[in-house]
Order: sequence, then C-alpha cells, then structure tokens
Amino acid sequence: MKKVILTGDRPTGKLHLGHYAGSLENRVRLQNDYELYVIIADFQVLTEHLNETKLVEQSIRDLVLDYLAVGIDPGKVSIFVQSRVPALTELHMYFSMLVNLPRLKRNPTVKEELKKSGKELTYGFLGYPISQAADILAFNADLVPVGEDQVAHVEQTREIARSFNNLFGKVFNIPEPLIGKAKRLPGIDGDKMSKSRDNAVYLSDSPEVVKKKISKAFTDPKRIRANDPGNPKDCVIFQYYKYFSKEGEIKSIENKCMKGQMGCVECKGRMAGIINDFLLPIQKRRSEFEKKPELVSQIIIEGTVKAVEKTNSVLAKARKAMYYDYASIFSEKGGGEHGNTNTSSS
Ligand code: TRP
Repeated sequence: MKKVILTGDRPTGKLHLGHYAGSLENRVRLQNDYELYVIIADFQVLTEHLNETKLVEQSIRDLVLDYLAVGIDPGKVSIFVQSRVPALTELHMYFSMLVNLPRLKRNPTVKEELKKSGKELTYGFLGYPISQAADILAFNADLVPVGEDQVAHVEQTREIARSFNNLFGKVFNIPEPLIGKAKRLPGIDGDKMSKSRDNAVYLSDSPEVVKKKISKAFTDPKRIRANDPGNPKDCVIFQYYKYFSKEGEIKSIENKCMKGQMGCVECKGRMAGIINDFLLPIQKRRSEFEKKPELVSQIIIEGTVKAVEKTNSVLAKARKAMYYDYASIFSEKGGGEHGNTNTSSS
C-alpha cells in the first residue's frame, strides 16, 4: 500500500519559481511513489479576498494549468477543489469543538497574516487552520509537503488528530510535515519570493519579462564596477545559479565574481538565459493544455470524484467512532439517501 500525501495551494493566481522550488518540484518527484492528492483551497481564499470571489474560477484554472505544465500527471495525482468535497466541511465542524480560542490565537502564521491584513479578525479566518486540519485528516495523510510557514498548521493538525483519537478511539493518522526548500530561491529583491511582494518570476513569464526582472535583481551592493571583486553570498543571482546550475558552473561563476572577472550584467544575462531555457518546455506544455479547457475541467472533476470517495470512507470511520453514524436511522434500508451519501464507500 502506497503512503498518502495531501498538499495544495490557494487559488490566488499564477505560480512562480519559488513555488516550483518550494513544492512543485517535490510533488513531481513524489507522484510516482505515493498516493498523492492536491487540494485547491478555495475556502481559504475567502479569508483574504472576500471581495474578489469572481476571480477564483480563473485562478483555479491557472493553478491547474501550472501543475500540468510542470509535469504533475493527472493519471497519478488527484487534483481537487476543496469546496466540492463535503467530508471536509463536516470534519471541520467536528474538529472546531476540539480546539480552544487561545490555542488558535497563538498560531504564528495566523498572527503574521493578521498583522498584514490589518483587519478585525473573523470567525472563519481564525478557524482556517482547523479547516486545513480537516483537509489533511480526511485523507488520513501520512505526509504533508509544505513551506515553512505552514508547519504551524501541520502541528495544529497533529494536535487535533490526537485529541480526536483520545476522545473517540483511533481514527486518524498523525501526519508528518515534509518541509520544502523555498529558501533556495529568493525573490529578485532577496526576500521570500511572493506575489504580494512583487518580486516573483512567474512560470508563465515571457523571455523578455524574465530578462527585465533578472536585470533588476539585487546583487552585491558593494560592487560598483564590473571588475570590482564581488561577494556571491550577498547576491540573489548567485542563489539562482546554486539552484539551476551544476557544481562546475557554480564554482566557475563564484570564482569569476570574486576575482572581478565577470560583471553583473553579463552574469545576469546568462542567468536569464538559463531560466528561459528552463521555462520553455513548461510554457509549451501550458499552452497545449490552454487549448483544451474541457480536458482541464475533466481532470479537476475526476480528481474531485476521487477525493470525495477517499474522504467519505475516512468520514464514515469518524462518524462511527463518534456514534454519529446513526446506523439505526440512516441505515441502508431505513435511511435512504441522506444516510448513505457520505457513508456508502466505507
Ligand atoms: N494553506 C495552504 C496555502 O496557503 C493551502 C492548503 C489548504 C493546504 N489546505 C492544505 C496545504 C492542506 C497543505 C495541506 O497555500
């Protein structure tokens, strides 16, 4: 039996190189050896973008196009939409009774996001880590590949799983986080690559846009002339070489920079070329899928059907453990539709 992985993203726009290094690359690698589910977390979009709900549908499409473009294989991976999987909502409700308010308010990622938004806290926002725990536990996932900012949520998930198991008997696995290395690929300003910081190189950026962005990237600030000796460790572009290039080229770039034998302009031009070569096949695949919107819909529908099946079987166990299956009322004979929609595959 393959181990189960659950991971995913909020549909808020196109993906960038930071996503690639932090998670997509991992997913493509893991898809062969694990039962992999990728959640498109549309509920979570509502925590921040309640007045832009009109954009979510296109963002879901963009997200899936990016997944397919980088080589996520829909024959191996189930890509699904969070709001279309009812078991997630029901488990969220049960789990919300297992977490107290001070615990939720202590979550460092929630605190950080709250500070950024500057708004009054909503009930739904404070609870989204509980919803995320439902996402993970509904699949009885073994592993959750995430960036560092999500580790707090996996920790919360583990606590909820333990609380539930203690109260009702063992239903849920205790999942482990698998932390991605997004740090390897900072944004062009040296900060974490992110849409909101406007420092990202997108998987769908054209060669001209890539060239322009790379030419603006932060390099060693003490280096003024091309033949000044440079400090690769203070340079964003060198981080990119370390990610994209082989050992030999990395060493050679490092040497030439430190000896003032290669200027930043040349070095950046080369890196833009490397990134464009990397993006070319990805963009080719993306444009192939862009021409087939029905195929993309089909992939999402099939992934969602699989997610519904899988989570219904876990939900059935949770209901039973809680004595909330109400077998005498909603049994095969007596209950008709209502009892069986969510328990049929147990
Ligand atoms: N919170 C994640 C993000 O911001 C998205 C997400 C929702 C997720 N549910 C998840 C990630 C479950 C991993 C596992 O991108």
